[in-house]
Amino acid sequence: AIALRASARTKGLLFGAAVNYNNLSSDQAYANLVAQQCGILVPANELKWQALRPSPTQFNFTRADWMAQFARRNGMLFRGHTLVWHNGLPNWFAKTVNKQNAEKFLREHISRVAGHYAGQMHSWDVVNEAIEPRVQRADKLRNTPWLRFLGPDYIDLAFRMAAEADPRAILMYNDFGVEHDTPQAETKRNAILRLLERLKSRGTPIQALGVQGHLFGHPNGVKFTQIGRFLRNIADMGLEIMITELDVNDQQLPRDPAIRDRAVAKIYADFLEVVLDQPAVTAVITWGISDRYTWLASTKPRKDGAGLRPLPFDAQLKPKPAWQSLTSAI
Ligand code: XIL
Repeated sequence: AIALRASARTKGLLFGAAVNYNNLSSDQAYANLVAQQCGILVPANELKWQALRPSPTQFNFTRADWMAQFARRNGMLFRGHTLVWHNGLPNWFAKTVNKQNAEKFLREHISRVAGHYAGQMHSWDVVNEAIEPRVQRADKLRNTPWLRFLGPDYIDLAFRMAAEADPRAILMYNDFGVEHDTPQAETKRNAILRLLERLKSRGTPIQALGVQGHLFGHPNGVKFTQIGRFLRNIADMGLEIMITELDVNDQQLPRDPAIRDRAVAKIYADFLEVVLDQPAVTAVITWGISDRYTWLASTKPRKDGAGLRPLPFDAQLKPKPAWQSLTSAI
């Protein structure tokens, strides 16, 4: 069968995946699959503060650089995730960063990290998951150290610093929870639209929205009728859109693997049908590529103990019905 990276390219799209250094560097068969299928590679954890910054004064790019080289050698683009996030912070962060020095730490981090890969990064998730629909604030900005120390302007600041450090990368705001037809997703979509409008009106250098695409199956089925309008609104602002972390949490789907795989594949197909109808969508990136390694195994395990099946290739690296959905859509 034709590789996803090639079929995507014929449609003017990018296909890729986020993977971990440990899996990529130790599992040759897995690395071969990643190289064969992906036109763009994302380090799932290796560019987070926790991974890069063993102490307040040190930066360690060893693993991320190894992955950048893997991408280059295999003719893949390389994508950065993520410069600003409330999670994935090192232990020293809470003891060290405060209101007085936060801007200095943010500036140093972004200029060192984005600067290190300047000219080599296809795109950067400059700010990840800054909105939380359940907070009281009208702007729905999540209560993070950055918001507490610097106020809402930390987002503008981060984008300006990133543009200065790497003027070539596509600078993105990335978030989840906008995909399904739920009231909370509607609140989140509205808050994201308001945030992006505010950034654009101030001339903040942002070029794209990342829609993570962490989808989930439900015994009663799921629908994606609302996200289309949201993506149209984003596109109307002149922003590009990428699906950045696609997978399907199958925790609540029937145990039988054949039934489960069909349900997961339908969710991939239904979602991709809606989002690829929007021409501003330029990339589809999955969070992992094979069920052999998925972050959901530790965060959302099944009660019955059965292995999760959220990705296009199974644990034996064989294509699943979800792969069929992808290859038909892209
Ligand atoms: C996850 C990684 O996959 C895990 O290995 C890690 O322990 C926690 O982070 N949204 C994001 C990603 O933006 O950074 C998260 O990655 C998954 C959810």
